[in-house]
Amino acid sequence: MSVIDKSEKKVLMISGVVIGLFIFSILYAKDKYQSDVPECIPFDKAYTEPRINQIDEKTFQVFSVASMWQFEPSEIYIPVGSEVDFYLSSKDVVHGFNITEKNVNMMAVYGNINKTTVRFDEPGVYKITCHEYCGVGHENMQAEVIVHQPQTK
Ligand code: CUA
Repeated sequence: MSVIDKSEKKVLMISGVVIGLFIFSILYAKDKYQSDVPECIPFDKAYTEPRINQIDEKTFQVFSVASMWQFEPSEIYIPVGSEVDFYLSSKDVVHGFNITEKNVNMMAVYGNINKTTVRFDEPGVYKITCHEYCGVGHENMQAEVIVHQPQTK
């Protein structure tokens, strides 16, 4: 007969509560701050070709490829109110992917594709910076999302 020690039971219960709190806080933040939880999607070579796809007027896909020491594409022009799916991969070492003023904090990892969705409701220039030390050119590794007002006729 197996008996669980009382103190072990206590530790198990506390762990359960803490795990529950973590899951709750992730779901809460997702709802409250409309932050998308990044997902890791199956690797596909097609995602490692840097490009911008326009799906419709305000929906874009950005295939962002990090390498020493740049992001491609380095300039992403989109109209205000756009929703962008970022697919992130790396050509070499591990890089970071942070968008200022947005709740985006991803890693670019060789052989992996990470995805997140971001809405840009305010015009401006949003810097994408690498926040994972990746070599001598690390501090210059950045790109920009340029959010502009659509031209009115
Ligand atoms: Cu790439 Cu730091």
